[in-house]
Amino acid sequence: MKIIAFAGSLRSGSFNKSLLKAAIEEASDSLEIEIFDLDGIPLFNADIETEGDPKRVSEFKDAIRSADGILIASPEYNHGMTGVTKNAIDWASRPGNDMPIGGKPVGILGASPGITGTARSQDQLRQSLKSVGAHCMPKPELLLFRAHEKFDNQGNLTDDSTRRFLGKYLKAFEEWIKPFT
Ligand code: FNR
Repeated sequence: MKIIAFAGSLRSGSFNKSLLKAAIEEASDSLEIEIFDLDGIPLFNADIETEGDPKRVSEFKDAIRSADGILIASPEYNHGMTGVTKNAIDWASRPGNDMPIGGKPVGILGASPGITGTARSQDQLRQSLKSVGAHCMPKPELLLFRAHEKFDNQGNLTDDSTRRFLGKYLKAFEEWIKPFT
């Protein structure tokens, strides 16, 4: 099964990007996870959309269209998802127009140096995805707290229990998306 994964952070040292890289390492052979970097996706503007989707937006929508499932790792900013995450969802969910994200199964995960591990960001993300007709895996939830203690300087996940749980999470995701494919 083909999975598109994206992180709602643009920074090179992003814990959420690193978490997705670890997901590639922990996924079974039947789960082909490809990371899509949201860098280059402009802020949503209906005028730009009317003129035709920018290249990076088309690539993003095509990647979603051709995927059996989506993994989203969004940081939490000010108790919500990041603007980068929301903006990407907005481009991919235009009611009555072009809604590749609608009906797709989504696994939400996230990493934060704080102790709540993106709980509030994930709640908000679920709410938005519900409104566009995407399906979010209800359980298990993956909230990686104190993320700065769990990766090395190269962004490798060094925490064994998180690695094991990530593996379990991905197995559950693989089973859960089967009826949607
Ligand atoms: C944050 N951060 C943060 N963390 C958190 O757990 N809850 C929050 O509400 C916020 N709010 C917040 C606002 C803004 C504007 C910034 C820049 C940061 C900290 C955030 O979790 C941290 O910077 C992460 O490292 C961001 O994720 P990436 O880039 O490492 O993936």
